[in-house]
Amino acid sequence: MKFYFPFHNYFVQFYHLYDKLIFLTMYGLVNIAIKDLVVTNHGEEVWKEICRLSDFEDMDFIGMNPYPDKITYDLVKNASIVLKADAADILEAFGEYWILYTADEGYGDLMDLTGSSFVEFLGNLDMLHYRINNIMPQLAAPQFSTRNQKENSVELEYRSHREGLVPMLYGLIRGLGKRFNMVVTTEQIQIKNEQNGCHVFLIRW
Ligand code: HEM
Repeated sequence: MKFYFPFHNYFVQFYHLYDKLIFLTMYGLVNIAIKDLVVTNHGEEVWKEICRLSDFEDMDFIGMNPYPDKITYDLVKNASIVLKADAADILEAFGEYWILYTADEGYGDLMDLTGSSFVEFLGNLDMLHYRINNIMPQLAAPQFSTRNQKENSVELEYRSHREGLVPMLYGLIRGLGKRFNMVVTTEQIQIKNEQNGCHVFLIRW
């Protein structure tokens, strides 16, 4: 069961995040991956339409430059309009794609170093982002920790400065499982609030 639908349509929730996005930036690498995913599956014209609706005339990004979070959220919002798909589904597909994309875009060795098993990798996600932080100094990376590890399951705590990206986690975790030839299922067992400070996922295989 997925808990990230407090509203009927995730788009509604996503839209209301806008006033929280003022100060954060996201490296262009993320936006390039979104473009890649859209162009590969739906073609250049669809991407142009998404950029037009997002008032983003450049239509391209520099991977190592930071861009306001609002651009990324606008692209996802407008992709959801143009493709008539829920924003949550787009984020989830993006999460899975991100694992393949980063491995192909020169971060494969870093991925290899991060862990030789699925659980080890999950436990080292902060180290991975810490290393990326060295080359991307404005990175506002999420934080992760694992707990309650059992033979066929583990729990993952997710802390972020950002809101609304939980669906991406489902895709990221699935993609990471595939990297280790595993079929994993993810269930959100805690929603972040002011007391607990983090989302928690139960991952089984
Ligand atoms: C080598 C592989 C990876 C690279 C290069 C990378 C890099 C990045 C970058 C550049 C951002 C945007 C944040 C910013 O610019 O401030 C980001 C965000 C994020 N990353 Fe990674 N990442 C990698 C792997 C992973 C993996 C394996 C996971 C989890 C399984 C993950 C989870 C996330 C999440 C959830 C965000 C969204 C930001 C947030 O929640 O605040 N990343 N990462």
